[in-house]
Amino acid sequence: MSDYKRILVTAALPYANGPVHIGHLAGCYLPADIYVRYQRAQKRDVKFVGGSDEHGVPITIRAMKEGITPQQVVDKYHAIIKESMEQMGISFDIYSRTSNKVHHETSQDFFKNLYDKNLFEEKVTEQFYDEKAKTFLADRYITGTCPVCANPNAYGDQCEKCGSSLSPEQLINPRSTLSDAVPVKKETKHWYFPLQHYEAWLKEWIIDGHKEWKNNVYGQCKSWLDNGLQSRAMTRDSSWGIKVPLPDAEGKVLYVWFDAPIGYISATKELTENWADYWCKDDTKLVHFIGKDNIVFHCIIFPAMLKAHGNFVLPDNVPANEFLNIEGDKVSTSRNWAVWVHEYIKDFPGCEDVLRYVLCSNAPETKDNDFTWKGFQDANNSELASIFGNFVNRTFVLMHKLCGGKVPKLYEEMMDDKDRQIIADIKAAKEKVENLIEQYKFRDALFEVIDLSRKGNKYMQEKEPWIVAKSLAENADAQKSIDNCLHICLQLTANLAILINPFLPNTAKKMLGMMKVVDKMLEWQNAGSINLLSVGYSLRAPEILFRKIEDSEITTQIEKLKSGLVKPVQEPTSDKPQVTSDNSQETTEEKAVASNVKPEIVYDDFAKLDLKVGKIVAAEKVEKADKLLKLSVDLGFETRTIVSGIALHFKPEDIVGKQVVIVANLAPRKMRGIESNGMILMAEDAGGKLHFINPEQDINPGAGVS
Ligand code: MF3
Ligand code: ZN
Repeated sequence: MSDYKRILVTAALPYANGPVHIGHLAGCYLPADIYVRYQRAQKRDVKFVGGSDEHGVPITIRAMKEGITPQQVVDKYHAIIKESMEQMGISFDIYSRTSNKVHHETSQDFFKNLYDKNLFEEKVTEQFYDEKAKTFLADRYITGTCPVCANPNAYGDQCEKCGSSLSPEQLINPRSTLSDAVPVKKETKHWYFPLQHYEAWLKEWIIDGHKEWKNNVYGQCKSWLDNGLQSRAMTRDSSWGIKVPLPDAEGKVLYVWFDAPIGYISATKELTENWADYWCKDDTKLVHFIGKDNIVFHCIIFPAMLKAHGNFVLPDNVPANEFLNIEGDKVSTSRNWAVWVHEYIKDFPGCEDVLRYVLCSNAPETKDNDFTWKGFQDANNSELASIFGNFVNRTFVLMHKLCGGKVPKLYEEMMDDKDRQIIADIKAAKEKVENLIEQYKFRDALFEVIDLSRKGNKYMQEKEPWIVAKSLAENADAQKSIDNCLHICLQLTANLAILINPFLPNTAKKMLGMMKVVDKMLEWQNAGSINLLSVGYSLRAPEILFRKIEDSEITTQIEKLKSGLVKPVQEPTSDKPQVTSDNSQETTEEKAVASNVKPEIVYDDFAKLDLKVGKIVAAEKVEKADKLLKLSVDLGFETRTIVSGIALHFKPEDIVGKQVVIVANLAPRKMRGIESNGMILMAEDAGGKLHFINPEQDINPGAGVS
């Protein structure tokens, strides 16, 4: 850290096409805010910029759905998002928007800069065009019948019913969603940024130079770079977006992923005259907080753009989080399977810190994680309230009861090992929390804070000042022992306020109020000290920091979630491919990057598998096993018995005759007394539904698959 003079923190610009849900918070806003609050407490020069992403297909799709203009869409959701961020205490120094004039100018200048250097490739390709609406069509705007499952409402990039990834050419009876016209191919020119020219440099910069990046981030970058980069169109045909600043570019706008990250620069410009210090000086530490579906854009495309432009700093780190699921299921805004931040704030007023706590202590830092309402209640009731809150409350109650409401003296000569140990724990906690935050390990850092309060409880339990108080009459040292215990517990409370502040700022504020001290006490350098509250200083009555959350509140939330659930018929089961992409190429890319990939194997590992096409010739239920079907599979050269756990998904009579792919050389295994000789490959979609993997057309059983 010491080599940096200033820190610039960004958090992904959310699309202003809907409100934010708790997955957004957990993914990047909360970790970014914790990091920034910590840096501010360290008195470092830090700026935190963000704003709404107001361009691209996601906005126009929303406008179409709501029957309003794109401008109305962004105005509406920008306001809602901004308010949610404020209410949750996400302390941006500026929360801007990409429809601002300075952003339009900044992005156009950026584009011009690359254009003038002759860095773009101009290419003419054929794209689908709607002759009635007189506009080119993004793949999402084309619907038709799915060639795989015959769903009549599949999109040009994906069928939401069977999950197949499609291109518009594959749709049967394609139609424009704008006018119902049959789309035709038409030539169009676009400006492509040749990412492949930056491949060698990116490899050196990331693969060799940033081994400290989180595994999920580093791994995704590596796989992109290993697969080889290609030119990518940086313009689109659309009426919504930033106009391409060239004379021959009527009807063309900048690609949303070209302009959006430049939004970080524009927002900094709006924030401070000294913006160039943050963006152009080498002693700036730039950190991008994002969700995992944004990795390629922040680690590969935007850095390549910055490099091509020149004069800009590159990110020092991109601590991306994975996804947060809700009650075991992927968040889906179209199915309304989400916990909306603005609704949470309405339903649990004054409990913003509880949500911050739950989302941080259960943050999807290394893998996808699950949010459950029961877990939320437990975290509040049995961690926040009964450990942290309880310690602070007991300390204050006892201090009023046994020490006259004033900070008692510490009699050093009477200190014992337990006192010395807890003081050592206080000092150690500062170091631990600090190191973990610097490494972007916020869950572990928060755990250390709670753990310190747990130690405080244990200390108090062992010291039992309320028991000692009973011997005040006969024991001359009793009061001193009580005073020592409460002196230390109060100093510990002050330390807890400092350490919890980045995570739960409202709680820290309340604690300051109880201790009658000013904000300055929260400066990080004060942590570890046991001289924070002066002897004789009188303190206020305790305030309950965390109220109990009742079972009925949890039941209400679970019912609300379930009743809001819209069954996925033609609607997407997952939004990301839809909202982050402008064409089918990206949809596939986004999906590939968003998936959890198992550890790498070499070709020889793969070659050990013998995959063959077979045909199911008979199927029956296995007695007393509701999940199992006994199948006979014709492999051409023999018929195999395979027991498969698919009985809850398929009726035996429906699958006879189906072609399947099996692992033919799997060691036999007995299930319910039947020997199973192989395994059938199945794909599971986001809704948990199973699909057979089979050849497009019937082929001879026994055919190899590789
Ligand atoms: N709007 C994008 C999303 O929600 C994120 C944009 S981040 C920025 O996925 F870098 F482009 F700003
Ligand atoms: Zn389909």
